[in-house]
Amino acid sequence: MKKNQHPETEAIRAQMQRTQYREHSSPIFMTSSFVFEDAEQARALFADEQDGNIYTRFSNPNHDELIKKLCILEHTEDGMALASGMAAMFCSMAAFLSAGDHLLASRSLFGSTHQIITKIFPRWGISHTYVDIDKPEEFEKNIRPNTKMIFVETPSNPSMDLIDIELLAALAQKHNLLLNVDNCFATPHVQNPALMGAHLVTHSATKFLDGQGRVIAGVVLGSKELIKEVRYFARHTGPALSPFNSWTLSKSLETFSLRMERHSENALELAQFIDKQTADVLNVKYPHLPSHPQYALAKRQMRTGGGLVTFELKGGLERAQRFLSHVEMMSFTANLGDTRSIVAHPASTTHSKLTEAERRAVGIENGTIRVSVGLEHISDILADIEKALSKSR
Ligand SMILES: Cc1ncc(COP(=O)(O)O)c(C=O)c1O
Repeated sequence: MKKNQHPETEAIRAQMQRTQYREHSSPIFMTSSFVFEDAEQARALFADEQDGNIYTRFSNPNHDELIKKLCILEHTEDGMALASGMAAMFCSMAAFLSAGDHLLASRSLFGSTHQIITKIFPRWGISHTYVDIDKPEEFEKNIRPNTKMIFVETPSNPSMDLIDIELLAALAQKHNLLLNVDNCFATPHVQNPALMGAHLVTHSATKFLDGQGRVIAGVVLGSKELIKEVRYFARHTGPALSPFNSWTLSKSLETFSLRMERHSENALELAQFIDKQTADVLNVKYPHLPSHPQYALAKRQMRTGGGLVTFELKGGLERAQRFLSHVEMMSFTANLGDTRSIVAHPASTTHSKLTEAERRAVGIENGTIRVSVGLEHISDILADIEKALSKSR
């Protein structure tokens, strides 16, 4: 196929090879294994002398199609599709870290990533240091001789704080470290960490990449050399993705850039609206809102502000609970990046395992509400928020 110039075109047109049935939409290869033509082919495939599918735990045409599209969108050479975002986070770290190694990470991480770093890795002799994401000077200060990797989420969840990826990439180069960026909040529509020097780009594909709240999946993207290590680790530890989920995600990517445009437009309008609700709201955080403390960085690093808006209600926990009980159209559920708008209360759900002091350190107050802004008409989203704000007073 002729190479198209725009990644969004390739994400629509890139497809696995058509079979003898001349299908237009790609088929789903729901097969555990693949047949060998002869003994020599079986030997050569196992010896890595020939490329080809052996067993779906290692590879599958649906995984390949998905990875091909994501490599186009994220500007990476290769990738590995995995059973969940957490499988991707875990494999992207565990494939490279050994006992005695040190990991440097931003403090505000997704809850399960935090559990891996603080509870599971220490059992295997892998230590860590957390630094505040919005204090770039802290990163270099905390690099040790045994530091192997820097891991960050930018924007952070839910406080929407940012770190300059190019700055971290320069540090990683200077100290010979791997820079691993969880890009699930921003998505490749908004920013491409690999173009800014990140070595590994990780995703919970469960979020905006699927965008319709249907599948759990994850991906690790990077150079061929690094992904070879991830593939080895995943092949032998087994967090394989179902071909059905790969197919679902690949179809989702055909509408990805269109969806992200609308998510971003709606989110910006919602952030601007909330910014004016000074009687009810203490602050609102959205990267492309001029009041964001890192607005200049956001404009330089992010093409749009993305699909998430976080704000703090006046009146703490009780106000937040009243607000959530008065939201009518939007869903109250533990996910984000869906066509349907979702409200979340991080303090009592995703971040409830942290102490209040730990939550405060990552910008989560009892009145903090996160909105994953969906694709509904913006007037309906604003009306739902306005009603919940007034009824919860
Ligand atoms: C930033 C981030 N990383 C990783 C994950 C984990 O992804 P999954 O739920 O697909 O395992 C999530 C899930 O919410 C997330 O928000």
